[in-house]
Amino acid sequence: MCGIVGYIGNRTAYPILVKGLQRLEYRGYDSAGIALLDDEIRVYKCKGKVRDLEQLTKGNNISGNIGIGHTRWATHGLPNDINAHPHKSMNGKFVVVHNGIIENYTHLKNTLKKRGYKFVSETDTEVLANLIESIYLENKLSAENAVRLALTKVIGAYGLVVLCVDEPDKIIGSRKGSPLVVGVGNGEYYLASDATPIVEYTDRMIYLNDEELVVLSAQGLRVTTLDDVQKNPTITHVDINIDNIDKGDFEHFMLKEIYEQPTSIYDTFRGRVDLNTHQINLGGINEVMPRLAKAKRIIIVACGTSYHAGLVGEYLFEEYARMSVEVEYASEFRYRNPIIEPDDVIIAISQSGETADTLAAIRMAKEKGALILGICNVAGSSIPRETHAGIYTHAGPEIGVASTKAFTAQVMALTMMAFVMARKRNKISAEKFEQMVGDLVKIPDAITEMLKEEKNIKKIAEEYKNATNAIYLGRGYLYPVALEGALKLKEISYIHAEGYPAAEMKHGPIALIDNNMPVFVLATKDKYYEKVVNNIQEVKARQGKVIAIVSKGDETIRKMADHVIEVPNVDESLMPLVAVVPLQIISYHIAVMRGCNVDQPRNLAKSVTVE
Ligand code: M6R
Repeated sequence: MCGIVGYIGNRTAYPILVKGLQRLEYRGYDSAGIALLDDEIRVYKCKGKVRDLEQLTKGNNISGNIGIGHTRWATHGLPNDINAHPHKSMNGKFVVVHNGIIENYTHLKNTLKKRGYKFVSETDTEVLANLIESIYLENKLSAENAVRLALTKVIGAYGLVVLCVDEPDKIIGSRKGSPLVVGVGNGEYYLASDATPIVEYTDRMIYLNDEELVVLSAQGLRVTTLDDVQKNPTITHVDINIDNIDKGDFEHFMLKEIYEQPTSIYDTFRGRVDLNTHQINLGGINEVMPRLAKAKRIIIVACGTSYHAGLVGEYLFEEYARMSVEVEYASEFRYRNPIIEPDDVIIAISQSGETADTLAAIRMAKEKGALILGICNVAGSSIPRETHAGIYTHAGPEIGVASTKAFTAQVMALTMMAFVMARKRNKISAEKFEQMVGDLVKIPDAITEMLKEEKNIKKIAEEYKNATNAIYLGRGYLYPVALEGALKLKEISYIHAEGYPAAEMKHGPIALIDNNMPVFVLATKDKYYEKVVNNIQEVKARQGKVIAIVSKGDETIRKMADHVIEVPNVDESLMPLVAVVPLQIISYHIAVMRGCNVDQPRNLAKSVTVE
């Protein structure tokens, strides 16, 4: 959700903070602000993007070797200058940036009001700043201990960073539920919501755990628990290619990430699939393999696009490994009091590894004794740290809010897992396994071929850019792709779009079809082909506009559909990896043609760390 960055060292903090916020803008982008500390604390903040903040600071004093910054995704209060972070405490002693939600903020605010505190913003963060200050002044504590005590009174999630005007030589940070990473430099330290804004300065990171507090100063770094028990933090070396967090020659991150897919999914299987013998070794789950192979049931929990990848996983696991699979929205699962047996296996899928609902779902299942696996992209994030085992997708940083390469990498990871399980459980022959792995490693080439269709797809986008609604239909492996296509279109172009299993159309959605309705039909040559052809006829009989995604050389559908997009012929169980690409491209172009901010769509944030 919100992005946090901090710096303490010998350099001027301002450029580091601004660049860091630009890198973090994908997390939230309705307002931005910084606080700089030398002999005073100067706060600059405004509604809008980081570039608006840069305008605001022009001509102002931006000196200081210590500073904190924030880019906001509004939870409490409108996105405006006042609600933007950092927030100062009433007497100006503390300045706070915060990511998360303080659930008992109304109670805390009322208590503080009774003690004479006045509030200028509607945020829960200002409550936090005043709470820390009131404890500091009343109990005559150090800034560190005031933060510590204040946090014991807080219910909710936070990643927060604090400056104190009386102790102008340090930054204090803490987390619970929202991520915070410390970058360890040479005599300097960085703090951020994730490693991307600091990795160009240092690759040495400390991922704070929940309810840990860090104090950074010229004397060094100290990590403690909220009860002040000293911790020995582990320094992790992260390997993030800086080129992956720049747009390069592309106009948008989303387009760049669509084009990265041949490489990103190759990176998902690289080092795991032996290209000569066609064997798969999933090192991250080897140890738990015996328990996994015996599992009675797999429950996949995820949100958004990751949930759609999970649905593809359901088809794969059932078809090949003959395992019973349920796919659940993490937000529903966590509150439903679901039946979880100790021999169940939970697979959490998450690009960011920080999604609050997914994290809560695995914590709950873990308590009930299930084996918890993760399929995540961001190394060192919370979900991989809380699972028993897992697979990193290695898709590289995904900056565009609309997930693209993360989806295909997740599906690739699930495919490998399903094939391995199928073999382990003796559900497919060694020959079939090798043949499927041989097909799988050809997918990057198939996507490269698919990407050559961009021009044709862009022309189709031109025709539908003014649509107000759209329907996506698919069956079998392509039903989740229909859902994903609809999600892509709605989240970046703001066109209302719905995905359905094609056969469901006649049970209701068909009533929506008229000559203004674009219907995207995934109709490649699989076992449902004839049935989907019938669905196309039904749409055409009601004058709907059909954009069909078809297998190369399909002349039958070409005669009925308004437009066809040909996809290379791959096995139907691998088709989601290829067929999703034209849907990503068409959503991208429609959104660009409508003048939408593709990488930072309204109201959204990349990493949903609040429930
Ligand atoms: O980081 P996660 O994969 O856990 O995120 C889940 C969803 O928030 C995410 O997929 C979201 O739906 C994207 N905006 C989809 O493009």
